[in-house]
Amino acid sequence: MGRMMRLAGIAGMIVLFSCTLCLAQSNEECQECHDDPEATGENERRGEYSVYVDDEVYSNSIHGDLDCIECHEELEGVDFPHDEIETRKVECGLCHEDAVAEVSHSVHSPKFRDRAPDIPGCSDCHGVHDILAVDDPASSVSKANQPRTCAVCHADEEITERNRIVLPDVISHYAESIHSRLIRSGNTEAATCSDCHHGHEILSPLEQHSTIFKPNIPKTCGACHEDALAQYDISLHAQSLNAGNKDAPVCTDCHSEHDILKPENPAAPTHGFNVAVEVCSPCHASERLAKKYGFRWRQVKSFSESYHGLALRGGKSTVANCGSCHGVHDILPSSDPRSRINPANLQETCGACHPNATENFARGSIHFTTELAENKLTYFVRMFYIFLITVTIGFMFIHNGLDFVHRVRILYRNKYPDLLPHQRSV
Ligand code: HEC
Ligand code: HEC
Ligand code: HEC
Ligand code: HEC
Ligand code: HEC
Ligand code: HEC
Ligand code: HEC
Ligand code: HEC
Ligand code: HEC
Ligand code: HEC
Ligand code: HEC
Repeated sequence: MGRMMRLAGIAGMIVLFSCTLCLAQSNEECQECHDDPEATGENERRGEYSVYVDDEVYSNSIHGDLDCIECHEELEGVDFPHDEIETRKVECGLCHEDAVAEVSHSVHSPKFRDRAPDIPGCSDCHGVHDILAVDDPASSVSKANQPRTCAVCHADEEITERNRIVLPDVISHYAESIHSRLIRSGNTEAATCSDCHHGHEILSPLEQHSTIFKPNIPKTCGACHEDALAQYDISLHAQSLNAGNKDAPVCTDCHSEHDILKPENPAAPTHGFNVAVEVCSPCHASERLAKKYGFRWRQVKSFSESYHGLALRGGKSTVANCGSCHGVHDILPSSDPRSRINPANLQETCGACHPNATENFARGSIHFTTELAENKLTYFVRMFYIFLITVTIGFMFIHNGLDFVHRVRILYRNKYPDLLPHQRSV
């Protein structure tokens, strides 16, 4: 008997449940009015506006299986027509708690709207009734479409000014990069905005948890460039960075961040012709850094005066640049036995281009310089020569000059004997 009661109870509940279902406003019901391109609403703030919801677009969206009222909770149980409705903002967080939490402590947090009125809401990046799966190539946040979505604000002069957005040229710089080119040509392995910044948890480079906080950058790029990262991790530059030295270079100091180019591209700072001047110089030609870290030479200057530097400036591409001898990612000081410029390895390093390089050939000072602080003997020898040359040439000029004046005077004397003060004629 008790069992029968229970069964009847369950049956009752099922009936009640299906009844709520038939009372619930179905999507078809809503779409009877809203799947009409002419459907409009009107209020004071917006005047007349469209309330058209394209049923095909909605059904094909990632939310196509949801009931309209799962998002438009405010309409639950409301009778049609419902023009008296005070619409409340749709809460995406009802189902996407994590996304809301991530955005809330990012640069796009709604709490910054006082200062920056154009902070995006979920729909600014994702759309409304047309939201697609993130990995759908047509999604507004797919790898290829993301830059365009961010550009709505980040490339809009008015918006970047009004919100004082940093790096207003970021979109056009990125568009030039190898990453952008690859993605546009269909290679989805390359990096788009969210690969380096995250899609929601976008943080300022000053924050320690940020993907673009300087010490975290090698890891951010290294997620895709494992080989480069593994090599970089060996380097003195990485050791120095890990010891807390903010002057040490990370990937972006040498490659830049948005307009990264292939090293084969002559416009790339990492191209052989440009490495010395554009990559290593900003730090290694800096007197401040040289003093601070005791770099032993003014390497850049000595390099540009060397046969390699001169030939490089002359346009010879086969010649050595800083990277050919030091490596680029795994740079180590000469004292380290693994270093390419450790005396034991020099023959091999130079030998890559000078097949007949002997030990002696390799030992010649590469960073030969004539400045006092670096090389006293050469300095004095050079000074002595300069002195000798100046004096010799000086004497020659004085002698020839005097002789010239003398001859002119004689010429005049002979032609116009009365013009010049009287002198003994020759
Ligand atoms: C009988 C026709 C009709 C039906 C059925 C209908 N709507 Fe509407 N809806 C309208 C009209 C007309 C407006 C514009 C109202 C106005 O001017 O305030 C509107 C406005 C809206 C708005 C925007 C309100 C605003 O202020 O911007 C939402 C959201 C909405 N409807 C959702 C729904 C949902 C969800 C359903 C189904 C549960 C539904 N509607 C069913 C006619 C209808
Ligand atoms: C995933 C959540 C979601 C679902 C599901 C959804 N909507 Fe919306 N809808 C939104 C959002 C977000 C807005 C914009 C609200 C705002 O700006 O405050 C919106 C706005 C609207 C508007 C007003 C348009 C305007 O310009 O103000 C109408 C009408 C509407 N929805 C109807 C529907 C109908 C009909 C369905 C079902 C077929 C539906 N919605 C399903 C999220 C949803
Ligand atoms: C600045 C643009 C932007 C804003 C604002 C934004 N998103 Fe996203 N969202 C993205 C990007 C880009 C991705 C895909 C990249 C990724 O994998 O992180 C994404 C991915 C998602 C995903 C799928 C992956 C995941 O993280 O679960 C969901 C769900 C999502 N967003 C919901 C939301 C919601 C809800 C909001 C509002 C609280 C929101 N998004 C705000 C850009 C944005
Ligand atoms: C009633 C629950 C609900 C609400 C509210 C809701 N969504 Fe969703 N959303 C879902 C479900 C369910 C999926 C599908 C998840 C899946 O297929 O993995 C989804 C998927 C998504 C995806 C694609 C995620 C992916 O992995 O590709 C995005 C983006 C997204 N929603 C954004 C939003 C935004 C923006 C809003 C607010 C306008 C919102 N959602 C409101 C339930 C919801
Ligand atoms: C609807 C406009 C809008 C969209 C779309 C948008 N942003 Fe922003 N973004 C802003 C505003 C406004 C700020 C400034 C926030 C501040 O000053 O606090 C900002 C700040 C930033 C910052 C920090 C720089 C700064 O000036 O503080 C980064 C990084 C960023 N956005 C990346 C992105 C990425 C990546 C996307 C695309 C996935 C994107 N944004 C989409 C409006 C937008
Ligand atoms: C390959 C990695 C990478 C990609 C791809 C990338 N960024 Fe960046 N972005 C960075 C790094 C690293 C920085 C930090 C530069 C610095 O330290 O000043 C940065 C800085 C920024 C800033 C300034 C942040 C601030 O607060 O100073 C904005 C805005 C920005 N990026 C937007 C974008 C947008 C939008 C896209 C996509 C079109 C994008 N980025 C793509 C790596 C990347
Ligand atoms: C989402 C993965 C991803 C991230 C993150 C990423 N890259 Fe890339 N990058 C690629 C892919 C894929 C290629 C093209 C394949 C290749 O040549 O390795 C590429 C190409 C390059 C190239 C040209 C390589 C060549 O052989 O011509 C350089 C340089 C580069 N990336 C530097 C960086 C730097 C620096 C960062 C961080 C600021 C970074 N990348 C972040 C995926 C990524
Ligand atoms: C001290 C400067 C410097 C740093 C730091 C640096 N690179 Fe490079 N990178 C270069 C130069 C120069 C080249 C060009 C080498 C060549 O011509 O073969 C290069 C080449 C590359 C290439 C092309 C393929 C290859 O391996 O030769 C990739 C990818 C790359 N770097 C990624 C990275 C990543 C990721 C980081 C950070 C973990 C990084 N780089 C750090 C200077 C640097
Ligand atoms: C962002 C600045 C920066 C850039 C760019 C940079 N370096 Fe350095 N480099 C340093 C600093 C700082 C040190 C010293 C680290 C320490 O001693 O802790 C260093 C150390 C070195 C050393 C070891 C010096 C010694 O006396 O032990 C060599 C060799 C070197 N770098 C070569 C290069 C080459 C070659 C390039 C270009 C491909 C380059 N660096 C690019 C900052 C830089
Ligand atoms: C032809 C090969 C070659 C080229 C090109 C070259 N170097 Fe060197 N570099 C060396 C050798 C060998 C040493 C160590 C012996 C010496 O100092 O002569 C050295 C020493 C250094 C040192 C001191 C590191 C130490 O541990 O002794 C720095 C810093 C340095 N070079 C930076 C540069 C920079 C920056 C460039 C480019 C502007 C450059 N080098 C170009 C071969 C080269
Ligand atoms: C990337 C290839 C490359 C590397 C590595 C290299 N060189 Fe050279 N070197 C050249 C080329 C090419 C020339 C010819 C320059 C010219 O046309 O004036 C040259 C010229 C020279 C000259 C001038 C005399 C001559 O033989 O033409 C000397 C000396 C020299 N290199 C020494 C060295 C030493 C020492 C090393 C190692 C520390 C070294 N090079 C590493 C390519 C290289």
